[in-house]
Amino acid sequence: MSVLFTPLRLRETMLRNRIAVSPMCQYSAREGLPAAWHLVHLGSRAVGGAGLVLAEATAVSPEGRISPGDTGIWSDAHAEAWAPIARFVAEQGAVPGLQLAHAGRKASTDAPWRGGRPLGAEAGGWPTVGPSPLPFADGHPVPRELSTDDLSGIVGAFRDGARRAARAGFEMVEIHMAHGYLLHQFLSPLSNRRTDEYGGSLDNRMRLPLEVTRAVREAFPVERPVLARTSVTDWVEGGWDLEQSIVLARGLREAGVDLVDCSSGGAAPDAKVPVAPGYQVPFAQAIRERAGVPTGAVGMITEPTQAEAVLAEGKADLVLLAREMLRDPYWPLHAAQALGVDVRWPDQYVRASPPRASRG
Ligand SMILES: Cc1cc2nc3c(=O)[nH]c(=O)nc-3n(C[C@H](O)[C@H](O)[C@H](O)COP(=O)(O)O)c2cc1C
Repeated sequence: MSVLFTPLRLRETMLRNRIAVSPMCQYSAREGLPAAWHLVHLGSRAVGGAGLVLAEATAVSPEGRISPGDTGIWSDAHAEAWAPIARFVAEQGAVPGLQLAHAGRKASTDAPWRGGRPLGAEAGGWPTVGPSPLPFADGHPVPRELSTDDLSGIVGAFRDGARRAARAGFEMVEIHMAHGYLLHQFLSPLSNRRTDEYGGSLDNRMRLPLEVTRAVREAFPVERPVLARTSVTDWVEGGWDLEQSIVLARGLREAGVDLVDCSSGGAAPDAKVPVAPGYQVPFAQAIRERAGVPTGAVGMITEPTQAEAVLAEGKADLVLLAREMLRDPYWPLHAAQALGVDVRWPDQYVRASPPRASRG
């Protein structure tokens, strides 16, 4: 009996297995509108058998994009552009999900394959914003400090994004609070030096992320799950860490989050991250055990037996794969074969399926 291929229910949404395509920016949108690339990219991973296909960090406002090529959900036209993609993913038996994001001080950069550097206005960039006027790294612009009025606008943008995501046919949203982007910037003492009610104490630093969560939860259909991705640690002394993450995860659970997706890093350019197979799994386990909330494990999970063990040992409820899904969009079908699980291949591909699964 494979746990990896046991369905997972979150609210009224049923995932056919516990394999998720981790959100991955494609830097291929224009004016935030997803197009043919996104349909093929996400669609082929749904064909490949994943239970959940999470679309990339999608900006709730134009200045919240990491790069000019990021997708957005800040207008009804964006929802309309997403709708056929969400529909196609769902038609393949996968749950379509959207990651709602704001990049804050890490916005306005070039695509990674062009160096990923901050973009000036002459190159199509825009002014960035953040909790405090502190640049992310040398060579990055100083963000404008957000006022409390600005913050209610940001909460509203996440709320509208969630509403539009539902209208576009997404059955799940994930709030991006990780990797040094805006909500993480508020959480981490490295980037948040505010002296108002949004900075200082842990409760104050968690205020904006929790306000956003409550707004998203209210706007998204009650029968559909809301996830949150957090960086469980900054990997920097004096930064955000596991103990604070446990408190946050409890707050997220109380605000109606159904699963915490446990990543790490991104707040500090010089952090030393001990990257190795499954290196973030202990975070998923700790949050699951100590905050009493279902978790997702992500980060260098590449082998079917490894993914199976993470779940079977009770360390997480879901595994998310990113780069391995780029290497092999059919990873779930191949993992089923490797674990001896009989899964139905798409009708169109049945004649190529392994004998056990073949009904052709
Ligand atoms: C091309 C690419 C784009 C990514 N974009 C996002 C993103 O939009 N949102 C996010 O939360 N993480 C993003 N990530 C991080 C992945 O979701 C994942 O957490 C990370 O790659 C570790 O998982 P892996 O070892 O399976 O690749 C991205 C990673 C890659 C390789």
